[in-house]
Amino acid sequence: MVFPTETVYGLGADALSETAVARIFHAKGRPTDHPLIVHLAEAAMARALADRWPQAADCLAQAFWPGPLTLIVHKSSRVPLAVTGGQDSVGLRVPRHPVAQALLKAFAAQGSGAVAAPSANRFGQVSATRAQDVLAQLSPFMADTDLILDGGPCTEGLESTVVDCTAQTPRILRPGILGREAIAAALTASGLRLEAPLQKTPDPALPRVSGSLDSHYAPRTPLWVLPAAALRDQLHHYLAQHRQVRVAAWMLSDWSDAPAGVTIAGAPTDPVGYGRLLYAQLNDWDRAGFDLLCLEAPPPLAAWETVHDRLRRAAF
Ligand code: TXA
Ligand code: MG
Repeated sequence: MVFPTETVYGLGADALSETAVARIFHAKGRPTDHPLIVHLAEAAMARALADRWPQAADCLAQAFWPGPLTLIVHKSSRVPLAVTGGQDSVGLRVPRHPVAQALLKAFAAQGSGAVAAPSANRFGQVSATRAQDVLAQLSPFMADTDLILDGGPCTEGLESTVVDCTAQTPRILRPGILGREAIAAALTASGLRLEAPLQKTPDPALPRVSGSLDSHYAPRTPLWVLPAAALRDQLHHYLAQHRQVRVAAWMLSDWSDAPAGVTIAGAPTDPVGYGRLLYAQLNDWDRAGFDLLCLEAPPPLAAWETVHDRLRRAAF
């Protein structure tokens, strides 16, 4: 069952059924040691799947659920290892989207109420924020009886923030829609603190191109993410070397005299608007037969942290 959340579409199955969970890994083409997030209608149900419920989890759940936040806690024995990729921790999320809420409530009334769901895209490809993007990637791997609940475009457009609450001090494992400052502020208000990021964020102005093995969230078409001046310069060389190529560029700044063969679209200049449309733009262009996709790199500001994280993964 594919369903919308406020972040991205999820590919869901009963989290307490190993056969159902195995079908997710198959449809997604995902290695079985990659853990899945378990979705629930409310915090009390999430708590019932945890072995321990630390104060940090309690504080963050109260502050941000339902919403775009995933908490990693020690799992209860009810959660199969198949869901957690063999780990003794589990990712739990209570989404806010009304369709997700309705689905989870109905499943709580008739089944386990726990829905394991990764983003509804093929492994390594761009996440889906619209039903047509799910269909384009996953329809060959879905059975006729599998449903897609079409809730229209996702309102947030990038994945949830993942916070590890298994250690003494909670830490953000994946930046997401919910910002670092909001999480730190909620913890501080409860007398807790947030661990510093594991590594320093690489300079977002560094040139990035797709193609390496650990690429993730990546279109199949080659992708460049470069500051405007470098982008123009490198495209100039590229077009001089390659004849009859079709290039698309998502620009934050004006580029009215773009060379022939380059399709220009304007990107939202605020991080929230940009994040909302990024995956839809990449999915559209990835299906349109371009030879190269280019994104003008957003400014190196904290407000763009999650966008930079996804661009780095898409273009490395
Ligand atoms: O917004 C979202 O989070 C979407 C919607 C559908 O909820 N889901 C999503 O799932 O992005 P997925 O599978 O594409 O990404 C799950 C992330 C991965 O980075 C995974 O490593 C992390 O959550 N994760 C899940 N369980 C974990 C665990 N037990 N320990 C550490 N990381 C975990
Ligand atoms: Mg994903």
